[in-house]
Amino acid sequence: MMPSFKMWITLVAGAFAIIHASSIEYTVLTRSLAQDALIEEGISEEIVSLPSNPSTECGIWLAPSTIPGAGLGMYAGRDFRKGDLLQEYGDVVIPIIDIESHAREYSPEKWNFLWDEYTWDAESLQMDHEGFGHVNVASPGFGAAANSFLGIFNVEEYSPMPYDETASLHRSKDPGLGGFSMYGNRLSVAKRDISAGQEFFVSYGENWFETRPQMKTVPLFKDLKRANQLFRSFRKLIQVDKEQGIPEEMAKELWDVFIRNNKFDGSRILGAFHHDDPNELEILKKMSLQSLRKLQSTRSLEWIEEHGTCGDHLKAGPSELAQAGRGAFASRFLPVDTVVAHVPLIHISDRGRLNMYQLETRSKQLRPSRSKGLLGQQILLNYCYGHGESTLLLCPYGPMVNYINHNATKANVRLRWADPQRGNHMPELLERSLEELDTNATAKLAFELVALRDIQAGEEIYLDYGEEWEQAWHGHLVKWQQQVKDHRDDLGNYTSARQLNADKRSRLYTEFDQIESPRYPANVEIKCEKLFLDNDDWEEFAANNTIDDYLRSHRDELLPCEIMRVERIDGQLRYTVVMKEPDPDDDSLLINHLEEHLPRQAIRFVDKPYTSDIFLTNAFRHDIRIPNEMFPQAWRNAIQTER
Ligand SMILES: *[C@@H]1O[C@H](CO)[C@@H](O)[C@H](O)[C@H]1NC(C)=O
Ligand SMILES: *[C@@H]1O[C@H](CO)[C@@H](O)[C@H](O)[C@H]1NC(C)=O
Ligand SMILES: *[C@@H]1O[C@H](CO)[C@@H](O)[C@H](O)[C@H]1NC(C)=O
Ligand SMILES: *[C@@H]1O[C@H](CO)[C@@H](O)[C@H](O)[C@H]1NC(C)=O
Repeated sequence: MMPSFKMWITLVAGAFAIIHASSIEYTVLTRSLAQDALIEEGISEEIVSLPSNPSTECGIWLAPSTIPGAGLGMYAGRDFRKGDLLQEYGDVVIPIIDIESHAREYSPEKWNFLWDEYTWDAESLQMDHEGFGHVNVASPGFGAAANSFLGIFNVEEYSPMPYDETASLHRSKDPGLGGFSMYGNRLSVAKRDISAGQEFFVSYGENWFETRPQMKTVPLFKDLKRANQLFRSFRKLIQVDKEQGIPEEMAKELWDVFIRNNKFDGSRILGAFHHDDPNELEILKKMSLQSLRKLQSTRSLEWIEEHGTCGDHLKAGPSELAQAGRGAFASRFLPVDTVVAHVPLIHISDRGRLNMYQLETRSKQLRPSRSKGLLGQQILLNYCYGHGESTLLLCPYGPMVNYINHNATKANVRLRWADPQRGNHMPELLERSLEELDTNATAKLAFELVALRDIQAGEEIYLDYGEEWEQAWHGHLVKWQQQVKDHRDDLGNYTSARQLNADKRSRLYTEFDQIESPRYPANVEIKCEKLFLDNDDWEEFAANNTIDDYLRSHRDELLPCEIMRVERIDGQLRYTVVMKEPDPDDDSLLINHLEEHLPRQAIRFVDKPYTSDIFLTNAFRHDIRIPNEMFPQAWRNAIQTER
């Protein structure tokens, strides 16, 4: 997806003559933008639709994006109404914790990490407390595989849901805990009506584009609308002049000179036009720029079926394997040989990049230190595919595939390299070295998962992760039993934030209750939902008991907070808290806000950095193994990595 935007821009920016036309451009711009106040939201609600007859039930497709050079995209296979969930259970999200600090210890050379182009900032997903510095979030499916076109974005993504099903798992008795991400069910919702064949666009946020210099002419939320106004002003200008006898060809020439062939350096409004399209002027007489872009981001279902792979054959749910967390299940009957999922991959050519080191305090800050020894590996490792003779890891970012668990005897799908006609796989890379893979920082490899036999709707999907994985798992179980025996007391006494959050009824302790002795374990902190700061909207939802739904769709970041008072109001416990918000002018200062009578939902326990189960030194870590016969000779750079 994103690196590819570069190419889109190159296309758009394929400027011809550089003409300095500032005076006229200025006239046109000021005319059209004087009514800025009229632009409330840049996105029109008009629906653009191609006639379509879905031949399968598939609601989500992965296929080449309509944005030139943007690689893979996601498409609607049927109509969705505004507010519809696009998947009934959201995807897993995987925290990547302080990776730059750890990776610098591992190898101080120039930092490149392809995942950086595909991750989300942890704060808005309420996962930043896991690390001491910078936590990023890998969010497969809509979070990573869908492209972003802010002017016509149509998919809203919620925060991951707290993983309540696992509240009963505990580190003193469950060897699987710490081996999978505790964050998931990140739901995607139709932001507006979406018709079959339209490409899905999520919002990466304006900041994502603003911080990438190569994207300085990519239109943001309101720029399509502004460009459309610019066009209409231009038309008006021409019409005035036409009465005085200016012919249509001259109007076209004016447009070409001042808009289409303009260098438009740094203008997102001029960047909103397709400068390589000589017919755009004619088309814009008949429809708005927004409608045109929607139409251009729509493919026929026949095209999508020919060039894509269904992206919702799988759905997630609690696995039948007790220690595996969630699993993937067939959402419909899948006959033998069906491509159950397309598996686009992000490569990490040196798996040592996922090493994490023990922490030490240096100049009052926590820092990883290689000399103190290895702490473990990022939890991301467990979601990536690798091979014993190579340092390469290939990590999937397509919908739902990260939920698939291992079982050699029950395996009902197998792996193969993807069909290059569908999506984003370049088979010639299988013959090149890993260094070459790295010189070109975009995702260009993909697997697909194929049904080994008929799979019934609702059956859990299993893949054989390979013999080395299975041996490592059994080795883990034995070692784990011994370690737990040796540390039974401290393990048994451990209480996670997850357990505390699962108890929704008990009255919480205030700061005053805790003066004599703390009532909560030292490994948790109390935070408050920023959503409840200066905002009473929740009261309407409290009235009909739907605060949880309100939170799910509006969740913001968490702020440090202190509980000052508890009262019972109309039979409900209500809390008075002090929320501490970083001062926008000085990050090191906190502004205190007193908020009265908040519901329990406003308060969350979080684990302190490096204390949650994924940091257990005895948590399982192993990559999924790629079958030997599939793995290219050219990538076998580390014959001795395995003991
Ligand atoms: C795979 O499934 C079989 C049959 O249910 C079970 O006995 C076995 O323990 C499973 N293997 C793993 C590694 O979970
Ligand atoms: C990078 O990959 C693209 C195809 O995706 C190819 O056209 C281009 O030549 C490659 N660039 C380099 C430097 O290898
Ligand atoms: C764990 O709890 C038990 C019983 O409550 C107590 O005797 C023991 O000292 C505690 N251990 C630790 C390490 O806190
Ligand atoms: C509950 O109230 C909110 C706010 O008035 C409203 O938007 C929502 O639809 C209501 N939900 C139910 C289930 O009644």
